[in-house]
Amino acid sequence: MSDKNFYITTPIYYVNDVPHIGHAYTTIAADVLARWHKSAGEKTWFLTGTDEHGQKIQTAADARGITPQQLCDEVVQNFQRLWKTLNISNDDFIRTTEPRHEKVVQEVFRRLIEQGDIYKGEYEGWYCVPCETYVPEAQIGEGNTCPDCKRPLTKMTEETYFFKLSKYAEPLLKYYEENPDAIMPKSRYNEIVSFIKSGLRDQSVSRTTLSWGIPLPGDDKHVIYVWFDALINYLSALDFPEKGGKWETFWPVVHHLVGKDIIRFHCVIWPAMLMALGVNPPVKVFAHGWWTVEGAKMSKSVGNVVDPFEMAGLYGVDAFRYFVLREVPFGNDGDFSELAMAQRINSDLANDIGNLLSRSLQMIDKYREGNLPASYKATELDKEIEDLANATAAEMTALMDRFAFDEALKSLWNFIGRANKYIDETQPWKLGKDGEVERLDAVLRTLWESLRLAAVQVAPFMPETAANIWAQLGLAGNPLDGGRANWKWGALEAPVKIAKGSILFPRIDIEKWKAEKEKRDQEKRAAANPTAFFNFDDHEPEIEYDDFGKLEFRVALVEKVEVVPKADKLYVLHLDLGYEKRAIVSSIREFYKPEELEGKKIVVLVNLKPAKFRGVVSNGMLLAAESPDTTKEVLTLLTVMDDSIPVGSRVH
Ligand code: MSP
Repeated sequence: MSDKNFYITTPIYYVNDVPHIGHAYTTIAADVLARWHKSAGEKTWFLTGTDEHGQKIQTAADARGITPQQLCDEVVQNFQRLWKTLNISNDDFIRTTEPRHEKVVQEVFRRLIEQGDIYKGEYEGWYCVPCETYVPEAQIGEGNTCPDCKRPLTKMTEETYFFKLSKYAEPLLKYYEENPDAIMPKSRYNEIVSFIKSGLRDQSVSRTTLSWGIPLPGDDKHVIYVWFDALINYLSALDFPEKGGKWETFWPVVHHLVGKDIIRFHCVIWPAMLMALGVNPPVKVFAHGWWTVEGAKMSKSVGNVVDPFEMAGLYGVDAFRYFVLREVPFGNDGDFSELAMAQRINSDLANDIGNLLSRSLQMIDKYREGNLPASYKATELDKEIEDLANATAAEMTALMDRFAFDEALKSLWNFIGRANKYIDETQPWKLGKDGEVERLDAVLRTLWESLRLAAVQVAPFMPETAANIWAQLGLAGNPLDGGRANWKWGALEAPVKIAKGSILFPRIDIEKWKAEKEKRDQEKRAAANPTAFFNFDDHEPEIEYDDFGKLEFRVALVEKVEVVPKADKLYVLHLDLGYEKRAIVSSIREFYKPEELEGKKIVVLVNLKPAKFRGVVSNGMLLAAESPDTTKEVLTLLTVMDDSIPVGSRVH
C-alpha cells in the first residue's frame, strides 16, 4: 500500500442536455486514472455528479412545462445510467440539489461574508431581457444587441453580492509560479497566468433575476450564482468542513479534469475561493480539448451529436473507452470518426491484442493440452521480452503521471507488437512438431507471462477485456487485485491450466459497416431535421377550378379490413359510404393493424376509375399524408375526428 492519496474529479454536468461524447470523454479519463492509482495501492477517491441549478436548467424546465426539480430528477438518471453502461467506478455521485451540498455552499457563503471576502454591491451591465442574461462587453453585437437572439440590450443595475477576486490576483500568481505543474497542459498554464496578470475584477456571485438556486443565507431575495455553488461540490462531497471528514484525506491532492472552456472557473475563481477559506488550491487542473465530429462542430440541429450509449452498444464499451483515449493526446482537440474507430478496433484490438491472446492460447492448448509448464529456462531472447515488459510498466507509469493516455497505450502496444513478433521469431508450431519440449515450454511461458502483464496494464482502460484475458489465462480474481506487485514479470505463479475462451474482438467488415453507417446517418439527419428531406420543388402543374371540381371526395367509414393473400403491403378496406358499400385496396398494411382502422372515418376519392391489384378490384383511393423522411416511408391516414360529420359527406 502506498502512502499517497489521490482524488480525481470530473466537472459536474448540467442536466439540461443529454449526455454526449464530451461528457463521456472526461468521465472515462477520470475512471482510468482512478483505476490506475487504486491499483498502485494509493488511497483513491473518484467523484462525478450533476450541476442542477441556474438559468440553463430553469429555461430547459420551463420549455418542457415541468419544474426544475422534476427536470433534474429525470435527466440525472441519463447520466447515472451512462456511467453504469461505461463501467465507471466512481466512489460518489453528487447532485447540487442535495441538502449535503446546499448546506456547505451556504456555510462557505456565510464565512466569506463574515470575513469580508463577499460584500453587497451593485452590478451594472447590458442585459438581454428575453434571454434573461447579462451580455459581457466583449460579446455585445452590433448596435448594442444580444449575440444570441439579436434583440436590443437594456442597461441594468442590480443589487448583487461580489466575491473579492481582485484581492487574490497576487496570491494566485505566486501559487502558480511556485507550482508550475498545477495547470496542465503548459499552454493552459500560460493562458491562465497571463489572464490573471491582465487584472482580476471582483466576481458577482448572486442573482436576483432567478429563483432556481441556493438561497443566499440572510438575504433570500438572492440566490447564489450557479458557478459559485457548483465549484464547491468538490469539497461538499467530502463532508467539508467537518472535522475528520474525507476532505482531510483527499485535499488538496485533488486532480480536476475539465474541458478547456471551463478552466478560468477552475484555475482562477475556485483557487481564490479556496484561499479565502484558508484551504490549499488543487494540486492539479488538467484541461482537455474538444471533440469535433467528422470535421464538424457537434450540434443537435445538424444531428451529429455522438451518443455514448449508441457507441458502446455498437462497438462495445471497452473499444469505445480505448478509442477516445488512444486517438487524441489528452489536452488536444480531436476529431471523432466512427470509421477511425472501426479501423482501430480491427488493427489494435482484433489484430494486435486479440491475436496475441488467441495464437498463444491455441498453441498452449494444441501442444500442451492447455497445461502450462511449471518452470522454464529462459534464453536471451526470452529475457529481452521480459525486460521490455518491465520497462513498459515503468514507462506507462511515468506517462500516466503526465495524463498521456495515448502514449501510455502506444507504449503498451509496442510491447504487444513485440510479443507478436516473438511468436513469428520462435515459431512454436515448429518446436511442437519437432518435439523440442524444453524450448517450447520457455516460449509458451514467455507468451503467457506477456499476456498476463498486458492484461494488468490494460485493465484500467478496458476492465472487461482485461478480466476476460485474465480468466482465459486460467487466473482467478481480477487483474488489478494484487496491486503494483503484480506488474512485475513472474510475480504470480502460473496456474496449471489455461481456459481458452472466445475471441476478444471480432473483426469489423468495413464495406458492410460503411453501408450500415450511411443508413444510420440518414436516419439521424432525418430525425434532427425532418423537413430537410422534403422535396419542396416537386410540384404538380396548376389546374383549373373545373379540374378540382371533377374530383369527388367523400367521408367513408371503415367497416372491415382484410389482408390480400400473398401481398404483404396490401389491405382490402370495406367501406360504408352511406349511400353504398364498396371495397378499396390500399398499401398501408405496414403502418396500421386492421383493428386500428376499423371504425375510423376516412376520406376517399370515390370517382376514380376502378383498378385491379393482385386480382382484387379497388373502387377508389383513400387519402394519406406521406412522411418526407427518405430513409423510410411512413403513411398517416387522413381521418375525420368530428362525430357530427356523417358518413358520405362530400369533402371540398
Ligand atoms: N456544469 C458545468 C461544470 C461545472 S464544474 C464545477 C459545465 N457543464 S457541461 O455539462 O456544460 O459541460 C461539462 C464538460 O463537457 C465541460 O468540461 C466541457 O468542456 C465538456 N464538453 C462539452 N462539449 C465537449 C466536446 N465537444 N468535446 C469535449 N468536451 C466537451 O460546464
